[in-house]
Amino acid sequence: MRYGYFDDEHREYVIEHPDTPLPWINYLGSQDYFGLISNTAGGYSFYKDPRLRRLIRYRYNNSPLDSSGRFIYLREDSPSTNPSVPLFWSPSWQPTRFPLDEYECRHGMGYTTIRSRLAGIEASTRYFVPLGENLEIWELTLSNLRDEPVQLSVFSAVEFNLWDAMDDATNFQRNLSIGEVEVVDGIIYHKTEYRERRNHFAYLACSEPVVGFDTQREAFLGLYRGWDSPSAVEAGQLTGSIAHGWQPIGAQQVKIQLNAGEKKKVIIILGYHENPVDDKFDPPDSQTINKRSVLPIIRKYVQPEEVENAFQSLRLYWDELLSIFQVTTPNKHTNRMVNIWNAYQVMITFNLSRSASYFESGIGRGMGFRDTNQDLLGFMHLLPKRARERILDLAATQLPNGGAYHQYQPLTKRGNNDVGSNFNDDPLWLILSVAAYLKETGDWDILDEALPYDNQPGTEEPLYGHLQRSIQYTLDRLGQHELPLIGRADWNDCLNLNCFSDSPGQSFQTTANKEGKVAESVFIAGLFVLAAKEMMAIADHLGKAGHAEAYSKAVQEMVAAIWSAGWDGEWFRRAYDDFARALGSKENDEGKIFIEPQGICVMAGLGVEDGRAVQALNSVDKHLATTHGIVLQQPAFSKYYLHLGEISSYPPGYKENAGIFCHTNPWIMIAESMVGRGDKAFDYYLRINPSAREEISDVHKCEPYVYAQMIAGKDAPTYGEAKNSWLTGTAAWNYIAITQWILGIRPTYDGLQVAPVIPSTWDGFEAVRNYRGVRYEIRVKRKGQGNAVKLDVDGKPVRGTVIPQPADGVKKSRVVAWLGQ
Ligand code: BGC
Ligand code: NOJ
Repeated sequence: MRYGYFDDEHREYVIEHPDTPLPWINYLGSQDYFGLISNTAGGYSFYKDPRLRRLIRYRYNNSPLDSSGRFIYLREDSPSTNPSVPLFWSPSWQPTRFPLDEYECRHGMGYTTIRSRLAGIEASTRYFVPLGENLEIWELTLSNLRDEPVQLSVFSAVEFNLWDAMDDATNFQRNLSIGEVEVVDGIIYHKTEYRERRNHFAYLACSEPVVGFDTQREAFLGLYRGWDSPSAVEAGQLTGSIAHGWQPIGAQQVKIQLNAGEKKKVIIILGYHENPVDDKFDPPDSQTINKRSVLPIIRKYVQPEEVENAFQSLRLYWDELLSIFQVTTPNKHTNRMVNIWNAYQVMITFNLSRSASYFESGIGRGMGFRDTNQDLLGFMHLLPKRARERILDLAATQLPNGGAYHQYQPLTKRGNNDVGSNFNDDPLWLILSVAAYLKETGDWDILDEALPYDNQPGTEEPLYGHLQRSIQYTLDRLGQHELPLIGRADWNDCLNLNCFSDSPGQSFQTTANKEGKVAESVFIAGLFVLAAKEMMAIADHLGKAGHAEAYSKAVQEMVAAIWSAGWDGEWFRRAYDDFARALGSKENDEGKIFIEPQGICVMAGLGVEDGRAVQALNSVDKHLATTHGIVLQQPAFSKYYLHLGEISSYPPGYKENAGIFCHTNPWIMIAESMVGRGDKAFDYYLRINPSAREEISDVHKCEPYVYAQMIAGKDAPTYGEAKNSWLTGTAAWNYIAITQWILGIRPTYDGLQVAPVIPSTWDGFEAVRNYRGVRYEIRVKRKGQGNAVKLDVDGKPVRGTVIPQPADGVKKSRVVAWLGQ
């Protein structure tokens, strides 16, 4: 069953039922101010850091689901006598949940529009964040479809969060006494802690004269009432409450008179503003907010023309971003995901890492080191300047021994010690993101950027040196099979081979009861080979022959270690545990075969020439592939194993315990492409493609327009049900798998390569790709079976599959790739 449909022309997903199986959300904001918004206007906003600068309070795990957020209520000033018309209602359905005559939510690129109709009143609200501004706009258009005039009160409301979302949810003894607001000319300013060390405040403003307001939650809602039945809305008049402590809110009331057929706009602005630390108050010796710099912003955005301009700029921003790479293939799910939604999700994961979604609280995690490096892989072509900046931020948190903090805080850009370090795969991912950046941009200067370690001034070294230390970090930590020691965990955060935790509540990731000198990871070994090969190429380019040779030797040794201790006969093993026993081997009863090493080792080139890669991939097909995607391992762990950690804590079929952990599936797609099996690669691609799963939305449950981290595996009672949508490495990796490997349009150090491995039934496809200042129009035409490629560039045949660097000044180039023979 579907709950809506794709409107590809407008790049929107249109939801036709408000009661989707889970809230289906979207993101607002592009740079510093971000918001999460569900299809019923739930969600919250924050400035840069979803934990430390939260504007809207959100109650997690709530029932009814998703009942905090952006509230609008409509009420007729002379209530209707018609019993089917409620006294007041929410045009976004929540929180009143009064049945609407019509409802439609359109999630687009950086905006969401919710339109509904009830009793002849149509309300359409477009929510977005103007580019470069720290505010969100709720642009409400009201239309009177009746044949008589109507007088409405519009109520807008938000519950302010007292900035630090964690503290806000726990430290009541203090927080219930510190809330402060100001209300001037109808604008509500939330200024909790502004009196002391904060120089920022939030505000709620409206384009229409405010005839009533409330800033104290209980005055607005009434005691023991919820957001679905605020007493002040019921009474038709806000009470003018001023919050002193307790729960500050912003609620405004405006009156709108609409003649028959008339339409009017009400613009509501929720914003964040900072003042200079020494100019916070006006007059300076008062406690009153200095509003001189915020008022011009507010005055600007209460004007409909300014709002429209800002919206058009946002549209243009996305037009330009998405036009960088567009494809036309015979498959609509591919076109839609590549051209619109997958690219969009890549941007969202770049902006938010794993911080704030409806599955990530925005409190618990900073930006992951590993995650961010992988998110960058799919992002490079969109905004290479921002990618560059992010790479430098990441590298500056690297530790002097080459290791990495597992996470860093976006507000401070410092490594965060909550989870510490020693996830032994972490530093290698930095090499992959830098390599991808170089391949996209050719900006070799980045390697000369002097960056500190652990952000300590005086420790600066060129980025290239950081990459060298990443490699050395692995080489300094080899185990008895000459494979890398795993540390706290590798890519699989839940494979905790040194943890041995038997106390409830201990963190699997940070508890270490073993010294960590035994357990080894075949996955890191594969990743090392992949990364060290990039280092060979980079060193070669820099003319550092000695380095290149050293990396080549390291690669050979690691490859030898994998074949001698990491190959199980039919597939790659996963690891060695603390007792030096193989895991992911036919010798195991459970966890005989894992997906990760099959993907990464083949991607690193192991066995591609001698048939063992194909053998490993056939084993994936035989043991791990299901109709809903490829599960992480088999057989699932049926009980908790002290020596394996969190992976065995999950019930079978969920998450890392044999769930379809979507992040890993594209590795297999890439591996299948590398061995030339386009049909297989594309088949796997479609199994987890969200658009291709739209028809089973009632089973899948998450949004059909973005990837989820996990789909319950075949061992789970809810097989096929997705969880943890949006913030997952799945976004970047699927984008890479389809664009760079299946469609085969792949940046290399030397130029853009065209080497498709597409399904045998496709005649070809077309693509446009901006690359290093040239717009390439690429047509792939099949002339026979197989994946051999012959390129014609601007009418002339060229050798190989990499498009030669065009002459200076060339801005456009036509490429035909003849496929097969
Ligand atoms: C999850 C992992 C996640 C980790 C982060 C675990 O509970 O299963 O997917 O990476 O937490 O700390
Ligand atoms: C989610 C984490 O964000 C990611 O870093 C990790 O690789 C996967 N879980 C697998 O555990």
